[in-house]
Amino acid sequence: MAFSPVFLDELIDRNPIEDVVGQSVSLTRRGANLFGLCPFHSEKTPSFSVAPEKGIFYCFGCHKGGGVINFIMEQESLDFPDAVRYLAKRAGMDMPEDSQNSTYLRQERLWRLSKDAARYFHTCFKAEIGKPGRDYVNQRGLSPQTVARFGIGYAPDSWSGLIDAMGKLGYEKLDLIDAGLAIKGQKDGSIYDRFRGRLMFPIIDIRGNVIGFGGRVLGDGTPKYLNSPETLIFNKRKNLFALNVARKSKRGMLILCEGYMDAITLHQYGFDCAVASLGTSLTDEHANLIAKYTDQVVLIYDGDEAGQNATRRAIPMLERTGVRVKVLRMEGAKDPDEFLKKFGADRFQLLLEKSESHVEYRLDALRRKYDLSIDEQKISFTKDAIGLVSGLGTAVEREIYAGRVAETVGVAEQAVRFEVDKARKRRLAAAKKKQTQQAMDPAKLLQPAIKGEHYANLRSAMAEEGLLRMALTESAMLSRASALQSSQFSSPLLGRAFDALRQLYQSGLGVTLAALGGSFSPEEMRHLTAIARREDVRVSDEATDDYVRIITEESEKASAHTEQDILALRDRFQKTKGYGGK
Ligand code: UTP
Ligand code: MN
Repeated sequence: MAFSPVFLDELIDRNPIEDVVGQSVSLTRRGANLFGLCPFHSEKTPSFSVAPEKGIFYCFGCHKGGGVINFIMEQESLDFPDAVRYLAKRAGMDMPEDSQNSTYLRQERLWRLSKDAARYFHTCFKAEIGKPGRDYVNQRGLSPQTVARFGIGYAPDSWSGLIDAMGKLGYEKLDLIDAGLAIKGQKDGSIYDRFRGRLMFPIIDIRGNVIGFGGRVLGDGTPKYLNSPETLIFNKRKNLFALNVARKSKRGMLILCEGYMDAITLHQYGFDCAVASLGTSLTDEHANLIAKYTDQVVLIYDGDEAGQNATRRAIPMLERTGVRVKVLRMEGAKDPDEFLKKFGADRFQLLLEKSESHVEYRLDALRRKYDLSIDEQKISFTKDAIGLVSGLGTAVEREIYAGRVAETVGVAEQAVRFEVDKARKRRLAAAKKKQTQQAMDPAKLLQPAIKGEHYANLRSAMAEEGLLRMALTESAMLSRASALQSSQFSSPLLGRAFDALRQLYQSGLGVTLAALGGSFSPEEMRHLTAIARREDVRVSDEATDDYVRIITEESEKASAHTEQDILALRDRFQKTKGYGGK
């Protein structure tokens, strides 16, 4: 949905970026800018900056950046319209009329319904009717505190218990269906409760909204767990069970396990940093979510083959986000829930401290692929292992694991170390070669440190960037560029930005990047912010005229070029025809 520029202008005005960011990030002033720890990646020294005058934020570490709306989109995982609604609410502004039937309002209703449903299940659990649920919880050894902390409930064994209770609160059939809480019957439009006779685990997102449920059968029925279907508010690829609690843990890590019960029991035993995926294997979205909250993950999947495969798949996905990965292995229990109940928290703590770095885990997994009693396989294993070890970041790590490999195959440590060094040198040489190739590419050298935007014409692009900076610093300069067309820009993105800023200017509105988010993707906003944040602005009529002149010149060259090409092509075409005619 498009918001009117006037509305956005006021919204941005009434949500100063330093205030909005300051709600969740503690900022210190340094000169004109404010600095703090980046909320979007984990770091120890502040590389996150806010420039109140320009209305932008930018992180020198992860390169996220944009205006106040982008900040909320990023922080609250909202799309543009919802981020606008969020800020409108914050500033006490009325939303324009056309948003009345919006997705966001629908989501809000489903969140409210789901919370009311969770309350209903929890009330049932404590009431007479909840005895089967309470018995089951006792049998599984969950404490009253745990029940309260996770809002565990019980869905009575009835076809309409929830539907009736929610009806009294004013919810419609369609609400219950859309929230995944009721199912439509085959005939006559009747509906019935999805969850019946189950122990209910509410799934709560990081903002505290109830978004779905996992319902465990009491006993041996199938399915063992019934989960909410995907709905407008529930996406299991993007959410993790118990993250709403675990994100507040002081342990400085997250424990990732497979099951609801595993996570809950871990919390009960004091491991309050446990989260579980929701009956799916780990997704890239999960990995990114995890990386927002920690830089250390311990994987504890079940000991069976499926669990081990899942572990192997999860490691590279997590590593890609920059988090350190360890793997905890249990003996004598199939999952953490069973382990804790059998052996207690202290034994588990020991395992946690001993949990292997993923290197050990991968070496071990590699070893199991080969039969080391056969010489040939031993050699193949050693080769693979050396490849793995030579890629490790520090000399200490390489030293330790080279020793480990030598021990495993029973050869002299020195021999393995020698091979690791050789492989390392080959690696470095290859990397260096690649680097010099890149360094020799002048376009790369002069490019801003932003991925994704490649300039076709550097001379023009630099002028285009300069002009945009000028417009953002001193918008009146835009009047000197009135003859310029965005189609003359060599970079389509910069051209679009120029158009959008000029429109703001012509409507008498604030010329700021913050107003652009609606028609530019977060990546595009990042790129534009990186351009805007630089300080090398020459604010002068001459500079503006220079930029305009360069852009015009370069675009003329480009079109002349195309014309020449066409002429040349026509020439060739005629010649060939001539031959053919003979
Ligand atoms: P498990 O079968 O390992 O269950 O499934 P569990 O967590 O150990 O549960 P308890 O201890 O028997 O109660 C692991 C996870 O896979 C998903 C659930 O998220 C579960 O926690 N799952 C499993 C389902 O979604 N549906 C099922 O029918 C089974
Ligand atoms: Mn279990």
